Amino acid sequence: MLTRSAAAVFITAIVCATPAPAKNGERWVVGMSQCNLGEPWRVQMNADIRRAAAAHSDLEIIFKDAQNDTLRQRAQIEEFVNSNVDLLIVSPKEAAPLTPPIAEAYKRGFPVIVLDRRVLGADYTEFIGADNRRIGRAAGEWVVRRLAELPAVKKGARARVVELEGLMTSIPAQDRGAGFHEALKGAPVDIVYTADMKWLEPQARLDMESALAVEPQIELVFAHNDPGAHGAYLAAEAAGRERDIIFVGIDGLAQEGQVYVRQGVLAATFEYPTGGREAVEAALRILRHESVPKEVTLRSRFFTSDNIGRGGDWLK
Ligand code: FRU
Repeated sequence: MLTRSAAAVFITAIVCATPAPAKNGERWVVGMSQCNLGEPWRVQMNADIRRAAAAHSDLEIIFKDAQNDTLRQRAQIEEFVNSNVDLLIVSPKEAAPLTPPIAEAYKRGFPVIVLDRRVLGADYTEFIGADNRRIGRAAGEWVVRRLAELPAVKKGARARVVELEGLMTSIPAQDRGAGFHEALKGAPVDIVYTADMKWLEPQARLDMESALAVEPQIELVFAHNDPGAHGAYLAAEAAGRERDIIFVGIDGLAQEGQVYVRQGVLAATFEYPTGGREAVEAALRILRHESVPKEVTLRSRFFTSDNIGRGGDWLK
């Protein structure tokens, strides 16, 4: 139990560590550490943050792009702390190596919102992201149903699937894979080839070339994101095999995955919302000393050729 004076010190420490309300004419400064801007999804996340922040004249967001380099992201988080921003939003590249700088900032009294990819432990103010395990499981359930419609599978054959994983040192990839595997349990489906394409379309294309070289028969590719699924499609197209294979991805951006579904490149994509708007709303609440939940789970939809015309369906 805390003694009275220890409790007073403790409470004072919390109060001092939390930013005071912005005075008239002053602006809150929020540092946003983005792990990379190489994929459309991350460009969209920054755009969502920018759009939401534009409605608040007392909020200024400074963006830094770590260019997919963990050490650079670590240094950029430290720069934000040293320049005394009022709050940090971090979308980390990897969990383990980015846990210490985030925990350090948090323990020094900087509010930190972790967006999309988790870190280890709970040394941050709020985590915002969709449920990747659930999305992976929903994708797996859809895949099992789709493969069951194939004539060969109806006759008792097992379907052959390639899984192109996201960066496996990041939690969304681990969770999407785990959910997908859960859904496949007991189904007549074999994962015949797995590769870590690190969320990157060019890498996915190379991995798929290798899969095609060793697997004469592939029924379906499940990629942990839409760039990965598209990279796999391009490899299959170059080999003249794209019509024999069903492609499924995750992200479901209006300008990317949903377009692929309309074009028939992807059979399905599962939405992974960026959380940009929600992060700005949470930042304002934290800066105004309002309470926020430790964890916010965003909902997601899925899109197929059947439902894309009506804006997809929500995951159950
Ligand atoms: C972009 C991205 C998305 C994916 C998310 C997971 O860098 O790979 O495609 O859904 O990160 O964190």
